Amino acid sequence: MKIFIDTANLNEIKEASSFPFVDGVTTNPSLIAKEGRDLVSTIKEITTLIDGPISAEVKEDNATNMYKEAKEYAKMHKNIVIKVPMTLEGMKLTKMLSKEGIKTNVTLIFTPAQAILAAKCGATYVSPFMGRLDDITKGTGVELISEVRYLFDLYGFDTEIIAASIRSLDHVHEALHAGAHVATIPYKVILKMLEHPLTTKGLEIFKEASK
Ligand code: G3P
Repeated sequence: MKIFIDTANLNEIKEASSFPFVDGVTTNPSLIAKEGRDLVSTIKEITTLIDGPISAEVKEDNATNMYKEAKEYAKMHKNIVIKVPMTLEGMKLTKMLSKEGIKTNVTLIFTPAQAILAAKCGATYVSPFMGRLDDITKGTGVELISEVRYLFDLYGFDTEIIAASIRSLDHVHEALHAGAHVATIPYKVILKMLEHPLTTKGLEIFKEASK
Protein backbone atom coordinates (compact mmCIF):
# COMPACT_ATOMS: atom_id res chain seq x y z
CA MET A 1 0.00 0.00 0.00
CA LYS A 2 1.34 3.42 -0.94
CA ILE A 3 1.36 6.24 1.59
CA PHE A 4 0.59 9.81 0.61
CA ILE A 5 0.74 12.73 3.02
CA ASP A 6 -2.57 14.63 3.22
CA THR A 7 -1.55 18.23 3.84
CA ALA A 8 -0.73 21.56 2.20
CA ASN A 9 1.63 22.53 5.02
CA LEU A 10 5.04 23.01 3.39
CA ASN A 11 6.99 22.35 6.58
CA GLU A 12 5.23 19.02 7.05
CA ILE A 13 5.85 18.14 3.41
CA LYS A 14 9.55 19.08 3.74
CA GLU A 15 9.84 16.82 6.79
CA ALA A 16 7.94 13.99 5.12
CA SER A 17 10.14 14.18 2.02
CA SER A 18 12.90 12.57 4.09
CA PHE A 19 10.63 9.70 5.23
CA PRO A 20 11.54 6.72 3.03
CA PHE A 21 7.96 5.40 3.05
CA VAL A 22 6.10 8.50 1.80
CA ASP A 23 5.16 8.18 -1.87
CA GLY A 24 3.13 11.29 -2.68
CA VAL A 25 0.96 14.21 -1.54
CA THR A 26 -2.73 15.08 -1.63
CA THR A 27 -4.10 18.55 -1.05
CA ASN A 28 -7.53 20.09 -1.22
CA PRO A 29 -8.78 23.71 -1.25
CA SER A 30 -9.59 23.59 2.51
CA LEU A 31 -6.08 22.39 3.39
CA ILE A 32 -4.51 25.10 1.20
CA ALA A 33 -6.79 27.83 2.63
CA LYS A 34 -5.80 26.71 6.15
CA GLU A 35 -2.20 27.62 5.28
CA GLY A 36 -3.34 31.06 4.05
CA ARG A 37 -1.51 30.56 0.76
CA ASP A 38 -2.31 30.79 -2.89
CA LEU A 39 -3.27 27.50 -4.55
CA VAL A 40 -1.04 27.58 -7.64
CA SER A 41 2.14 28.70 -5.88
CA THR A 42 1.61 26.11 -3.12
CA ILE A 43 1.27 23.28 -5.63
CA LYS A 44 4.32 24.53 -7.54
CA GLU A 45 6.39 24.50 -4.37
CA ILE A 46 5.20 21.01 -3.41
CA THR A 47 6.51 19.68 -6.76
CA THR A 48 10.01 20.77 -5.69
CA LEU A 49 9.74 18.91 -2.38
CA ILE A 50 8.38 15.45 -3.18
CA ASP A 51 9.00 13.25 -6.20
CA GLY A 52 5.70 11.36 -6.42
CA PRO A 53 2.06 11.90 -7.34
CA ILE A 54 0.75 15.30 -6.14
CA SER A 55 -3.01 15.85 -6.25
CA ALA A 56 -4.11 19.40 -7.11
CA GLU A 57 -7.84 20.15 -7.08
CA VAL A 58 -9.60 22.17 -9.78
CA LYS A 59 -12.01 24.81 -8.50
CA GLU A 60 -14.17 25.64 -11.54
CA ASP A 61 -17.65 24.08 -11.96
CA ASN A 62 -18.02 23.14 -15.58
CA ALA A 63 -15.93 20.67 -17.58
CA THR A 64 -14.64 23.25 -20.10
CA ASN A 65 -13.30 25.61 -17.44
CA MET A 66 -12.00 22.79 -15.26
CA TYR A 67 -10.20 21.41 -18.33
CA LYS A 68 -8.36 24.72 -18.86
CA GLU A 69 -7.37 24.76 -15.19
CA ALA A 70 -6.30 21.11 -15.29
CA LYS A 71 -4.09 21.69 -18.35
CA GLU A 72 -2.29 24.53 -16.54
CA TYR A 73 -1.61 22.25 -13.56
CA ALA A 74 -0.53 19.37 -15.78
CA LYS A 75 1.96 21.67 -17.57
CA MET A 76 3.48 22.57 -14.20
CA HIS A 77 5.03 19.15 -13.47
CA LYS A 78 4.89 15.52 -14.62
CA ASN A 79 3.82 14.37 -11.11
CA ILE A 80 0.63 16.43 -10.99
CA VAL A 81 -2.60 14.46 -10.59
CA ILE A 82 -5.77 16.47 -11.24
CA LYS A 83 -8.22 16.18 -8.36
CA VAL A 84 -11.70 16.20 -9.86
CA PRO A 85 -15.04 16.61 -8.05
CA MET A 86 -17.54 13.72 -8.19
CA THR A 87 -20.12 15.49 -10.36
CA LEU A 88 -21.41 14.99 -13.91
CA GLU A 89 -19.09 17.79 -15.12
CA GLY A 90 -16.28 16.17 -13.19
CA MET A 91 -16.91 12.87 -14.98
CA LYS A 92 -16.78 14.64 -18.37
CA LEU A 93 -13.45 16.16 -17.33
CA THR A 94 -12.11 12.80 -16.11
CA LYS A 95 -12.87 11.23 -19.48
CA MET A 96 -11.24 14.13 -21.37
CA LEU A 97 -8.08 14.02 -19.25
CA SER A 98 -7.86 10.24 -19.32
CA LYS A 99 -7.89 10.31 -23.16
CA GLU A 100 -4.84 12.60 -22.97
CA GLY A 101 -3.04 10.43 -20.43
CA ILE A 102 -3.40 13.06 -17.67
CA LYS A 103 -3.83 11.42 -14.26
CA THR A 104 -6.93 12.12 -12.17
CA ASN A 105 -8.10 11.61 -8.60
CA VAL A 106 -11.89 11.75 -8.30
CA THR A 107 -12.73 13.04 -4.86
CA LEU A 108 -15.54 13.02 -2.32
CA ILE A 109 -16.55 9.43 -3.03
CA PHE A 110 -19.21 8.12 -0.65
CA THR A 111 -20.84 5.25 -2.58
CA PRO A 112 -19.74 2.30 -4.73
CA ALA A 113 -21.83 3.73 -7.61
CA GLN A 114 -19.77 6.94 -7.60
CA ALA A 115 -16.53 4.94 -7.57
CA ILE A 116 -17.64 2.80 -10.52
CA LEU A 117 -18.67 5.82 -12.61
CA ALA A 118 -15.28 7.45 -11.99
CA ALA A 119 -13.49 4.21 -12.91
CA LYS A 120 -15.57 3.90 -16.11
CA CYS A 121 -14.43 7.41 -17.09
CA GLY A 122 -10.81 6.34 -16.71
CA ALA A 123 -9.96 7.83 -13.30
CA THR A 124 -6.45 6.97 -12.13
CA TYR A 125 -7.58 7.18 -8.50
CA VAL A 126 -10.80 7.51 -6.52
CA SER A 127 -10.86 8.96 -3.01
CA PRO A 128 -13.48 7.50 -0.65
CA PHE A 129 -13.66 9.59 2.55
CA MET A 130 -13.50 7.23 5.54
CA GLY A 131 -13.64 9.75 8.40
CA ARG A 132 -16.59 11.70 7.09
CA LEU A 133 -18.63 8.49 6.65
CA ASP A 134 -17.66 7.31 10.13
CA ASP A 135 -18.81 10.68 11.49
CA ILE A 136 -22.33 9.63 10.44
CA THR A 137 -22.18 5.88 11.14
CA LYS A 138 -19.06 4.32 12.61
CA GLY A 139 -17.64 1.48 10.53
CA THR A 140 -19.12 2.56 7.21
CA GLY A 141 -15.83 4.10 6.01
CA VAL A 142 -14.02 0.77 5.94
CA GLU A 143 -17.09 -0.98 4.46
CA LEU A 144 -17.03 1.42 1.52
CA ILE A 145 -13.33 0.81 0.84
CA SER A 146 -13.85 -3.01 0.94
CA GLU A 147 -16.84 -2.84 -1.35
CA VAL A 148 -15.14 -0.59 -3.91
CA ARG A 149 -12.05 -2.84 -3.89
CA TYR A 150 -14.24 -5.91 -4.44
CA LEU A 151 -16.05 -4.26 -7.36
CA PHE A 152 -12.89 -2.93 -9.02
CA ASP A 153 -11.38 -6.43 -8.88
CA LEU A 154 -14.63 -8.06 -10.06
CA TYR A 155 -14.92 -5.81 -13.12
CA GLY A 156 -11.18 -5.52 -13.79
CA PHE A 157 -10.76 -1.76 -13.31
CA ASP A 158 -7.21 -0.64 -12.71
CA THR A 159 -8.32 2.57 -10.94
CA GLU A 160 -6.61 2.76 -7.56
CA ILE A 161 -8.40 3.48 -4.29
CA ILE A 162 -7.01 6.25 -2.09
CA ALA A 163 -8.41 5.90 1.43
CA ALA A 164 -8.94 9.55 2.39
CA SER A 165 -10.26 11.53 5.36
CA ILE A 166 -8.10 9.38 7.62
CA ARG A 167 -8.06 10.73 11.17
CA SER A 168 -6.52 7.94 13.27
CA LEU A 169 -4.30 4.89 13.35
CA ASP A 170 -7.46 2.76 13.39
CA HIS A 171 -8.42 4.25 10.03
CA VAL A 172 -4.98 3.33 8.67
CA HIS A 173 -5.34 -0.27 9.88
CA GLU A 174 -8.85 -0.49 8.43
CA ALA A 175 -7.70 0.89 5.08
CA LEU A 176 -4.91 -1.72 4.98
CA HIS A 177 -7.32 -4.58 5.70
CA ALA A 178 -9.89 -3.36 3.20
CA GLY A 179 -7.36 -3.36 0.35
CA ALA A 180 -6.92 0.36 -0.33
CA HIS A 181 -4.07 0.81 -2.83
CA VAL A 182 -3.10 4.08 -1.18
CA ALA A 183 -3.81 5.74 2.15
CA THR A 184 -3.50 9.51 2.30
CA ILE A 185 -2.65 10.34 5.86
CA PRO A 186 -2.18 13.56 7.89
CA TYR A 187 1.38 14.19 9.13
CA LYS A 188 0.60 13.49 12.80
CA VAL A 189 -1.05 10.16 12.01
CA ILE A 190 1.94 9.12 9.84
CA LEU A 191 4.18 9.66 12.87
CA LYS A 192 1.80 7.56 15.01
CA MET A 193 2.32 4.65 12.59
CA LEU A 194 5.91 4.40 13.86
CA GLU A 195 4.95 4.16 17.51
CA HIS A 196 3.82 1.71 20.16
CA PRO A 197 4.34 2.11 23.93
CA LEU A 198 5.90 -1.37 24.09
CA THR A 199 8.37 -0.43 21.32
CA THR A 200 9.43 2.63 23.32
CA LYS A 201 9.63 0.66 26.57
CA GLY A 202 11.51 -2.24 24.96
CA LEU A 203 14.07 0.12 23.43
CA GLU A 204 14.63 1.76 26.83
CA ILE A 205 15.24 -1.67 28.41
CA PHE A 206 17.70 -2.63 25.64
CA LYS A 207 19.49 0.69 25.97
CA GLU A 208 19.81 0.25 29.75
CA ALA A 209 21.11 -3.31 29.30
CA SER A 210 23.76 -2.24 26.82
CA LYS A 211 25.31 0.34 29.21
O1 G3P B 1 -8.22 13.31 2.40
C1 G3P B 1 -9.30 14.20 2.47
C2 G3P B 1 -9.14 15.03 3.69
O2 G3P B 1 -8.27 16.09 3.45
C3 G3P B 1 -10.42 15.42 4.31
O3 G3P B 1 -10.28 15.09 5.61
O4 G3P B 1 -10.72 15.17 8.00
O5 G3P B 1 -11.59 17.00 6.50
O6 G3P B 1 -12.59 14.73 6.43
P1 G3P B 1 -11.38 15.53 6.69
